[in-house]
Amino acid sequence: MKTGREQWGSRIGFILAAAGSAIGLGNIWKFPYITGENGGGVFVLIYLGCIALIGTPILIAEILIGRSTQKSSVSAFSDLAGKESNWRMVGFLGVGAGFIILSYYSVVAGWAMNYTFMSITNFFEGKSAEQIGATFGTLFTSADINLLWHTVFMVMTIGVVIAGVKRGIEKWNKILMPLLLGIFLLLAIFSIFLPGWKAAVNFVFYPHLDKLKPSGVLEALGHSFFTLSLGMGTMITYGSYLNKKTNVVKSAVMVSALDTGIALLACLVMFPIVFSFGHDPSAGPGLVFKTLPIIFGEIGNIGMLLSIIFFALLVFAALSSAVSMLEVTTAYLIDEKGWSRKKATYITGGAIYLFGIPSATAGANTIFPDWAGMYGKNFFDSFDYLASNWMLPLGGLFVAIYAGWFMDPMLRQAEFKGGTKFTQSWFYSVWLFFLKFIAPLAVILIIAQRVGVIDIDKWI
Ligand code: PFF
Repeated sequence: MKTGREQWGSRIGFILAAAGSAIGLGNIWKFPYITGENGGGVFVLIYLGCIALIGTPILIAEILIGRSTQKSSVSAFSDLAGKESNWRMVGFLGVGAGFIILSYYSVVAGWAMNYTFMSITNFFEGKSAEQIGATFGTLFTSADINLLWHTVFMVMTIGVVIAGVKRGIEKWNKILMPLLLGIFLLLAIFSIFLPGWKAAVNFVFYPHLDKLKPSGVLEALGHSFFTLSLGMGTMITYGSYLNKKTNVVKSAVMVSALDTGIALLACLVMFPIVFSFGHDPSAGPGLVFKTLPIIFGEIGNIGMLLSIIFFALLVFAALSSAVSMLEVTTAYLIDEKGWSRKKATYITGGAIYLFGIPSATAGANTIFPDWAGMYGKNFFDSFDYLASNWMLPLGGLFVAIYAGWFMDPMLRQAEFKGGTKFTQSWFYSVWLFFLKFIAPLAVILIIAQRVGVIDIDKWI
């Protein structure tokens, strides 16, 4: 079907772009620290289970919805369920989530840029843990530095999206993703020779049952949505640029595998360093920004080099994810309002940039000084909470329910099998079972725990 719409140049281009969306701060910053907080081993196993049994089936569903309609999220639901249908709200939820998440994601990416530059000036060498902790504090509370990086990062993101699907998003992901994978592998090889390697492997892979709190199960599940970029219409939008010949199932499985591979590699890079230098694996969100620089600063020139590479990788990973979030809002305006890509990118990118300013200055507390008092969280944390804990799981839930229960079964099956040689329908049946029953139930559990309706910790 020739729609005049942009399409990926190749299947590998799509896989790298979708993997670029999935692989981001969630893999390199968040996954290692939540693994550390939840005691490693069992948490990792449960996370792998969530990715395979819940995340991947929803990922297939999102790509399939996009590919079948050749439209981004809101328009895809209009096409499938009708212009007046409430399912369009799922699309809007995604556009809203993209808008919100990108506005503060850009601020964290800005910290990574700042750390890259600090690494280049060998800032961390010889600094004590307190000094490094204080440095992060200074950065967090400095409105102008955060604003500067937020501006630079949003300009880069807009620059990629404006160039289009093939010449912008695909081209940059084809460069950044192999670079990221290659360098990460090298870093992991370096880690093998550290004295803490064995302890780290044991920590990440050996199931220490006593360390897992049941709420960790829900954290693993919630993170599997964030890390695969689900529930926000990203994969619907990226799927909409796929041609009908591409095997959706195989591509989705590759994206999940790459995303999981990088998350595990991030642990295998980080924990050997942490254990070799006697630091605490459960240091929490500060693991990347407060613990790693201490260690980099302790190992001289190699540390400086590793530190530059590491933080630059974090910036790349964040950029390819940010691009996918901006593409959701941009594609919505192109598809629904008929705007040109240039106009849609500038306007949404500009609006997200402005919306991110209170997050960039949240630490300095200058723009909404009373916000924290009202909501108990600063501007940045409030929106992170809203988007990651509510909008993404809800989006994922509705996608699973729509694709599992309401989508035309003939279309669903044809799309699932389109582009594949495979004829065994058992795989389709298994996928459908997970989509219809397991995924919705799991998401309802996450939401119930987060609302406080149930407290799974008390059940066991
Ligand atoms: N998957 C990205 C990460 O792990 O950092 C974050 C993300 C990107 C979430 C795109 C949602 C999204 F639509």
